[in-house]
Amino acid sequence: VSDSPPCPIIARRSAYVLDLEPGTYLWCACGRSSTQPFCDGSHADSGLQPISFEVTRRSGTQWLCGCKHSRHPPHCDGFHNRLKE
Ligand code: FES
Repeated sequence: VSDSPPCPIIARRSAYVLDLEPGTYLWCACGRSSTQPFCDGSHADSGLQPISFEVTRRSGTQWLCGCKHSRHPPHCDGFHNRLKE
C-alpha cells in the first residue's frame, strides 16, 4: 500500500492548442483518455478526476495541458519543459 498521491500519465509533452466552441468541457487529468485532451472516462480507478471548464465566446484559443503536470490545469503553464524522462 502506497501513500503517494495518484500520478497522471504524460499524454504528450506539449499543449493542445485548440479553438473551441462555447460550452463546458472535461479536461483529462489522468492522461489515460484516448480522446485527448478531453475525458473519455478512463480515469476510473486512477484516483484522479477530470477538470470541468467553461469556454465563453471571448475565451479565445485554449492552451490545454497535455503533460498533465501543469500547476494551473487545465491550461499549460510551461511545466512540461521541466519534466524528467
Ligand atoms: S503541456 Fe503540461 S504544462 Fe505544458
